[in-house]
Amino acid sequence: MITIIGNQKGGVGKSTLAVLAANYITIARKSKASIIDMDYQQSISQKFDKAKILENEEPYEVVPATLESFPIVYHVLNQNADHVLLIDLPGKLDDDGLLPVFESADLVICPFAYDEFTYQSTVLFTVVLKKVNPRVEVVFVPNRIKANAKFEIMTEVNVQLQKLGKITAPIPDRVDFQRITTFHTPVSLIPVIYPVFEEIFAERLWKK
Ligand SMILES: Nc1ncnc2c1ncn2[C@@H]1O[C@H](COP(=O)(O)OP(=O)(O)O)[C@@H](O)[C@H]1O
Ligand SMILES: [Mg+2]
Repeated sequence: MITIIGNQKGGVGKSTLAVLAANYITIARKSKASIIDMDYQQSISQKFDKAKILENEEPYEVVPATLESFPIVYHVLNQNADHVLLIDLPGKLDDDGLLPVFESADLVICPFAYDEFTYQSTVLFTVVLKKVNPRVEVVFVPNRIKANAKFEIMTEVNVQLQKLGKITAPIPDRVDFQRITTFHTPVSLIPVIYPVFEEIFAERLWKK
């Protein structure tokens, strides 16, 4: 299964959710996953290289890829249906090299926040994606939600996004997100994170 973690907006939590998803699928659910890191900063690959030194056996692979190398990396990694291939996308839309990536996706996890600019980027990203790949399913994840978030804006944004996909429970803004590594999710985050991934992956992966 090919899962893109994408949004045109930077800083919404794409790379963070990609790592958390891989940790969840491999460590909590003992299933198979890999990350294709297409972020220009390659932040996950850097984390992975550090974490690898401390492990005997890595629970999953992180493979850096560019738009040019994507087709071959995808071909090598996409071996079977119960292996989740998580693709961390850069925050941009204006490159035809993204077309094969969009076309390959079964599922898109799209983190977003409740502000006007992020909302517009989120809608634009989803509309373009669905034009390229009409069969794709989109799951929106409200991320970095503060306790004082405005209820009216949230309700309005949710109504609009629900026309394009499913919305999960919100993930709060918390400092312990800074302590996430490849292969390790801080225990304090498990109760906030696992229900969200359960919502996303349960019916797709382990309750056939
Ligand atoms: N729920 C959260 N609470 C607090 N900080 C978060 C949360 N989600 C992400 N972050 C932080 O926000 C920053 C941007 O996240 P990142 O995953 O790199 O975004 P993107 O890949 O979309 O650019 C990082 O410093 C990350 O640790
Ligand atoms: Mg990123």
